[in-house]
Amino acid sequence: MIDRDTINRILDAVKIEEVIGDFVSLRRKGSNWWGLCPFHPDRNPSMAVSPTKNLFKCFSCGKGGNALSFVMEHENMSYPEALRYLAAKYNIEVVDKELTPEEVARNQRYDNLLVVSDFAQKFYQDLLWNNDFGRTVGLSYFRQRGYTDDTIRKFGLGFASHHPDTLIDAARKEGYKEEYLIGATLCVARENGEVSDRFYDRVMFPIHSISGRVIAFGGRTLKKDKNVPKYVNSENSDIYKKSDAVYGIFFAKSAIAKEKKCYLVEGYTDVVSMHQAGITNVVAPCGTALTAGQIRLMKRFSPDVTIIYDNDEAGINASLKNINLLLEEGMNVRVLLLPEGEDPDSFAMAHTGDEIRDFIEKNEEDCISYKCRLLVDSERDPVRKSRAIRDVIATIAYVSDPVLRNLYVDNLSKKYDQKPEMLFKEIATLRRKWREERQRLEQRKEMEVSSGHLRPVYEGQQPPPVSEEYYEPAGDLLIGDVYSSNTPMDVSERELLYYLVKFGCYPIHFVEDMLYGAQKREGVTVADYIRSALSEDELEFENPLYRAIYEEFYSLYGTLDGSLNPEEQQKQVVRFLSAHNNDSLRKTVLGLLLETHTLTVKEYRLSIAPEETILGVTVPKSMVLYKLRITEQACIDITKEIAAAEANGDLECQKALMMQLQMFNQVKNRFAKELNRL
Ligand code: UTP
Ligand code: MN
Repeated sequence: MIDRDTINRILDAVKIEEVIGDFVSLRRKGSNWWGLCPFHPDRNPSMAVSPTKNLFKCFSCGKGGNALSFVMEHENMSYPEALRYLAAKYNIEVVDKELTPEEVARNQRYDNLLVVSDFAQKFYQDLLWNNDFGRTVGLSYFRQRGYTDDTIRKFGLGFASHHPDTLIDAARKEGYKEEYLIGATLCVARENGEVSDRFYDRVMFPIHSISGRVIAFGGRTLKKDKNVPKYVNSENSDIYKKSDAVYGIFFAKSAIAKEKKCYLVEGYTDVVSMHQAGITNVVAPCGTALTAGQIRLMKRFSPDVTIIYDNDEAGINASLKNINLLLEEGMNVRVLLLPEGEDPDSFAMAHTGDEIRDFIEKNEEDCISYKCRLLVDSERDPVRKSRAIRDVIATIAYVSDPVLRNLYVDNLSKKYDQKPEMLFKEIATLRRKWREERQRLEQRKEMEVSSGHLRPVYEGQQPPPVSEEYYEPAGDLLIGDVYSSNTPMDVSERELLYYLVKFGCYPIHFVEDMLYGAQKREGVTVADYIRSALSEDELEFENPLYRAIYEEFYSLYGTLDGSLNPEEQQKQVVRFLSAHNNDSLRKTVLGLLLETHTLTVKEYRLSIAPEETILGVTVPKSMVLYKLRITEQACIDITKEIAAAEANGDLECQKALMMQLQMFNQVKNRFAKELNRL
């Protein structure tokens, strides 16, 4: 856990143009710096970096934020990782909270496993390039497959000799402990106490974590013998969880994010060949069937995926199975059927990058039409045809986005002349069944956890060292799936929040005061005004995230040093909120800061007056608008209640409600008039 003071010291030292300048070349134009945006394919510099505002923004793709969020996004670091990165850049010491002895031991072990894995990778690589046997057997195998030396180096490929004690001997000589070699599942302890290598007589594919550390291996045999397993893979360990690891993700992540699309292939060799052909947004599961954890990792970079599997029976069956899984995790799924008998590896080797891209573009197919074509359209027998349609319906039921689901149902009903209501009903039944199953499963899990049978395990790709904040709850705020809608109410709440975040500490000069020279509101800030105007009517923001930001704002506001000028006070507020450890809170605040004008008070967009000079007009106007919306909502609610009371024949209640409605209508009109006046 990094304490608040340290975070402040880091943020004070950070110069955004230096941080971004490490990744993007920037040129100064006026008061801003400009460069090619790294978050989308950019030809002309469309990303502006403002040293005064401490923000960056791309005017083409819209991405924006501060130095911290840039590093998190660009380097795919977590919040604490990014803070540590910035601290290291500016030589700021980060003191961690005291760790318990167990935590220290666990961190140590984690580091040691990474160290021996790294050693093993270098060892295997060295055998491949520098050992006679390794060169004639391993290196020539890779070259024969068409891998260039650059490719072989890029993926860190290696060779494990046929003696099953080569690695352990070398490691011992270097002083690495058996314990860690076994822990990383590089070596195996036999019953007689002897320790030997897991991998021998194989070419080696190291598996990298998302940040590029070697965490496991896949070893391919060079024998044709069917009795020898084709691949031997690392087992799960403290640094490697198969079901969450994706082969190639380190080399593919930025391309996936940039192209907003991921290609999913079956195996190690497919990934390597596609990369060599210049298609770099490609990954594969690691020696397992595709899992939800792997999909979530891919989805971090893009929600769009195209499955490119071998065009043989096994490949097609696997693609059909994975469509459901991918849809269930909220991905948009397409499928590319390669020419018969081809796999991505052979196809990539036989074509140029442009040809491959072209082929994908022309032939990839939406997953539902793929299933229809494959399963339904070829079927003549009516019984089997109806079964196939059911299969497609089940797949549509996996789609998590209701709008997309409706589109699919529409198409299906037209295509096969089925009543949409029937399809919807079937889908609803399936979804309910699955939901109930999931609930039952979760209840069981909970019971097992509470009775101590099963301890919750870390779900990420690697168990992080305990010193990281992963284990810390993000402040006291528990904001789950926060909705952010575009309802008038939400927009209005957001607008008030905008004034707090950008100008909360600024004095508010009311027009009346200026006209009549009234003294009584001297020293009132935007924050004071908003708080009293809301509490006057006992109002609270509806959106829980906005409420949280509101509360965080005032918790800091109360502690600000009054001798500072408003601008400096506001800087402290911004520093605090825009580096908050709650992800959704921080992102929302950054979004507000990047807005250059208010959302609803449109006329002031065109105003040339600096925003802080017209707060006395804009803020009260936003406030009245907000209150108007609340009363409007109340009127709608009461009208509904009246209808309900009428349906129940409850005259008394109906009458009381009518009176309430009348009152609210009066208030509403008053607000509307006031808004016109302002
Ligand atoms: P493939 O048999 O298609 O292997 O299995 P491949 O990687 O394409 O190898 P080549 O091109 O035939 O030489 C696909 C993936 O399934 C896993 C591996 O991850 C492999 O890359 N697999 C396969 C295993 O883990 N163990 C096996 O015995 C076979
Ligand atoms: Mn294959």
